[in-house]
Amino acid sequence: MPPASQTPISPSAPIASPEFAALQRHATDARQWQLRELFAQDAARAEAYTVTSAGLTLDYAKNHLNQQTIVLLAAFARSQGVETLREAMFNGEAINTSEARPVLHTLLRKPPGMPFRLDGEDLAAGVQRVKAQMASFCDQVRSGAWRGCSGERITDVVNIGIGGSDLGPVMSCAALRPYGDTSLRFHFLSNVDAHALEALLPALDPRTTLVIVSSKSFTTRETMANAHAMRAWFLSQQREADLPRHFVAVSTQADEVARFGIDTANMFPFWDWVGGRYSIWSAIGLSLMLAIGPARFDEFLAGGHAMDRHFREAPLEQNMPALLAMVGYWYRQFFGTASVLVAPYHQDLHLFPAYLRQLEMESNGKDVTRDGQPVATSTCPVIWGSVGTNGQHAYFQLIHQGTDLIPVDFITALKPAHARIDQHRMLLANCFAQAEALMNGTVGQSLPTHRRFHGNRPSNMLLLDELTPFTLGALIALYEHKTFVQGVLWNINSFDQWGVELGKTLAERILSELDTGSSSHSHDSSTNALIARAQAALK
Ligand code: F6P
Repeated sequence: MPPASQTPISPSAPIASPEFAALQRHATDARQWQLRELFAQDAARAEAYTVTSAGLTLDYAKNHLNQQTIVLLAAFARSQGVETLREAMFNGEAINTSEARPVLHTLLRKPPGMPFRLDGEDLAAGVQRVKAQMASFCDQVRSGAWRGCSGERITDVVNIGIGGSDLGPVMSCAALRPYGDTSLRFHFLSNVDAHALEALLPALDPRTTLVIVSSKSFTTRETMANAHAMRAWFLSQQREADLPRHFVAVSTQADEVARFGIDTANMFPFWDWVGGRYSIWSAIGLSLMLAIGPARFDEFLAGGHAMDRHFREAPLEQNMPALLAMVGYWYRQFFGTASVLVAPYHQDLHLFPAYLRQLEMESNGKDVTRDGQPVATSTCPVIWGSVGTNGQHAYFQLIHQGTDLIPVDFITALKPAHARIDQHRMLLANCFAQAEALMNGTVGQSLPTHRRFHGNRPSNMLLLDELTPFTLGALIALYEHKTFVQGVLWNINSFDQWGVELGKTLAERILSELDTGSSSHSHDSSTNALIARAQAALK
């Protein structure tokens, strides 16, 4: 077996294509460019590399590119089929080839009155039906018409789910905190680690708690373990007949929901054409709708839809998701970058990097092409980050003076949702200063080597007019479409996630050994020893 780094790869389309070769030649020049000089040569650079849509403005001027770069990237994107596949996605073709499914999360954010037929069925009508069911339920809970078993109002909502059934709801509820109903407290239980459950239960009263079991498959072990534990906690204090007022489900699997013991009248369905990490727009967004109300949830959907229209209609050269994707691809393929830092300068977006980690890495962390061949180039970089200004006092040292080039997406809102304008000015000043420092460094100043910044480090600046349900919707849709475009550039299927399966299967095997205390000794010696240690500790 060759070592992993020498796994043979066969050259596939991108390497062989003339458009890729043209980019390669251009990159040889571009790697020599100094960002400062690009600005010095072009007084209108900021304007030329700024695009605005759906309440968002992307300034991508501080990147190693010129108009020719964009022309070449767009030509390559077209040659890879970005526009064709984009249409195929919106039209409901089965572009998720390994699972033979269409990819239609965009349908969830279309306004009412726009039928969408697939195989004779109007899928849009089904979407609107579930939205109405959600709205009616949320109105009842929020108004207090929905009562718990003792006749009291619901005070606490617990969303049990993991991955896409957790990250979208928890991130969005945090992001839209100022729009949230303050009479409801929201909790998100995802980890199978029962320390999370133990930390949560003392804060809850079963008589005033509503549990939403959110799982597309309704078989995810972590979610089911937490759901069963919460059900047992509830039944230790209340009657079985009271369950329907306190447990509801969001799933595609009515049979599994019924088997768990939740009345399917209290189930909010969605469909297999909605991927888990693209599901916040579906009934998986129930906790978000409970928090902000149906009208605000509609604004959230409208923001996503506005970005969909921009993505579908704008030429690639002025298309915000396509530009974000192409610029990211440019660095990954031709500058050897291995990660992207996402730095939201907005406290309420503190979970956005975690959300993007799943969206981009579960979608594009693949090593085979859509037709099953080994990919010929690197694919998804590591996505990481946390909120600014905190990162500045922790790891920004490395992005300024470390040895690796790490492109940054700065994200901030021009207007805050509070009246402390002085502090907001400080926040914006810091955000803009970091981008400027990364680009300019200390070139021209006479400093000891340890105080020098070489600069020439790229970043995007993404400005929200204000963080609202509408702009959050647009922001999420922007990154969804960025992820889609990059998947096409790499010629991979962004909509499956087989890479998570092997660990799940092995965990089942190890769990049965931990449960029974027996050992098959059939693993490697390290795993065998770890199992033995755990068995001894848990005896
Ligand atoms: O294991 C990965 C995954 O399937 C994600 O893609 C998904 O978001 C998550 O698990 C949760 O899945 P489910 O909603 O079916 O519980």
